[in-house]
Amino acid sequence: MEKDIAKILFSQDDLDNKVKELGEKISKDYKDKELVLIGVLKGASVFMSDLMRSIDIPISIDFMAVSSYGLSTTSSGVVKILKDLDHSIEDKHVIIVEDIIDTGLTLHYICENLKSRKPKSLKICTLLDKPERRKVEMTVDYKGFDIPDEFIVGYGIDYAEKYRNLPYVGILKRNVYEK
Ligand code: IMP
Ligand code: MG
Repeated sequence: MEKDIAKILFSQDDLDNKVKELGEKISKDYKDKELVLIGVLKGASVFMSDLMRSIDIPISIDFMAVSSYGLSTTSSGVVKILKDLDHSIEDKHVIIVEDIIDTGLTLHYICENLKSRKPKSLKICTLLDKPERRKVEMTVDYKGFDIPDEFIVGYGIDYAEKYRNLPYVGILKRNVYEK
């Protein structure tokens, strides 16, 4: 796996520190509120499990799975719900937890869909953001890092279902996917 990584962008320490920072901020902002974290599978699973343990107020969690890229590296804009939430979010304060926002098409679709279920509030938390690639406007309320327009993997994020178990975030060598 390591030999396919061109450069490490964020080490385990970088990620730990940033996740703690985000967790503290969310804990403050949602004190005395009923908060549900919604993780977007599978990419956000590692971030989600670290983030929730850095939040020190009572919360509940749920997960949603959508298809976006398939096995390619560019967004199709076609989003399909593969797994829906287990519980209603009506009247709840909701934060969607994403691994990475690229064009924004996936999250835009998820947001519109969740808004129709009448949450009390709906915010976005993403570990990584590629702002220059955005195709739809969107407010990101909690963000870990901005990254350049490169294809990255690790810390839950995959290429063709591989590399999710790397403990850091790195840039994937182009020769791995440009064949
Ligand atoms: P968007 O719809 O273009 O914003 O794409 C969002 C989803 O595509 C993310 O949640 C990721 O799962 C995936 N994605 C976007 N950029 C990358 C990347 O650089 N590496 C791996 N997956 C990515
Ligand atoms: Mg994702």
